Amino acid sequence: MSPFLLTRTLPEDTTDAALRADVSHGLTRTPKTLPPKWFYDARGSELFEQITELPEYYPTRAEREILIARADEIAEATGARTLIELGSGSSEKTRHLLDALRELHTYVPVDVSESALTQAGVALAAERPDLDVHALIADFTGGLTLPDTPGPRLVAFLGGTIGNLMPAERAAFLSSVRSLLAPGDALLLGTDLVKDPSVLVDAYDDAAGVTAAFNKNVLSVVSRELGADFDLDAFGHVALWDAENEWIEMRLRSRREQTVKIPALDLAVDFADGEDVRTEVSAKFHKEGVRSELAAAGLDLAHWWTDEGGRFALSLSVAR
Ligand SMILES: C[S@@+](CC[C@H](N)C(=O)[O-])C[C@H]1O[C@@H](n2cnc3c(N)ncnc32)[C@H](O)[C@@H]1O
Repeated sequence: MSPFLLTRTLPEDTTDAALRADVSHGLTRTPKTLPPKWFYDARGSELFEQITELPEYYPTRAEREILIARADEIAEATGARTLIELGSGSSEKTRHLLDALRELHTYVPVDVSESALTQAGVALAAERPDLDVHALIADFTGGLTLPDTPGPRLVAFLGGTIGNLMPAERAAFLSSVRSLLAPGDALLLGTDLVKDPSVLVDAYDDAAGVTAAFNKNVLSVVSRELGADFDLDAFGHVALWDAENEWIEMRLRSRREQTVKIPALDLAVDFADGEDVRTEVSAKFHKEGVRSELAAAGLDLAHWWTDEGGRFALSLSVAR
């Protein structure tokens, strides 16, 4: 079996402090917000995997279609010896890349979800004895310290996860990705594309209610970690299209006037009947917007591939 290393770059108490800061800031401001990274405990990661199988949730299938069609071109264009994947989750789709990257020496999956990293890492170490797998528990928005591995480097950021960052955060994030790369190294970026709003809303509000359970899971995380007394039935799942910002918003809507106690923060949070907590934005993109955001970070768009339905794009950009 190949070496599988799991490194926690964030001490557990840092995660705890970050959750406290995000919850106390997010639930005392107007409108209320909670950042999407707190969805992903073991249950949240499992629910996300179920979402990727839903008939309404096309992005995973569309991105896989592109990866299957283009993996050899990506391998040829990058010659990558180290693949760093941000927000890697189950690393399911990544297998198409791992199979195509013939020169690959090390795979570095990076995620906040320890359970997802462990499951994926153990499976990969068994499947790919030739490959070093060095998993990092880390926040990809927090400045990464990567292991010293051979170049060229390819950073992959799949699943449209970049859309979960606000525009200013995206710019800072892309600059930080650029700082991980040497000139000629590459970024493979998955972006969901602007399309008929009803298709988008259905993808975030499935008939089986899996996305609703995923959305509410953030309340379970806050209840478990900070002792809060959230009643999950007292909140409804909302997905809406913001046409001006071209993003989907997921919200949790209070079904009544209520007060939630969060003992670890010594906080009582009042919710009006119908008041929303924004839990995620998922921005949708156009090619020219992606090109200019990449260029602003020092990355030149070299390839733009879409699935046959034109729903989702993978871009390959090269560090200047
Ligand atoms: C939308 S899922 C995509 C998973 C996978 N890349 C795919 O395409 O199916 C987002 C992933 O990013 C991780 N994640 C979210 N915010 C993160 C952060 N700030 N730092 C590191 N990982 C994060 C989640 O745990 C989850 O595995």
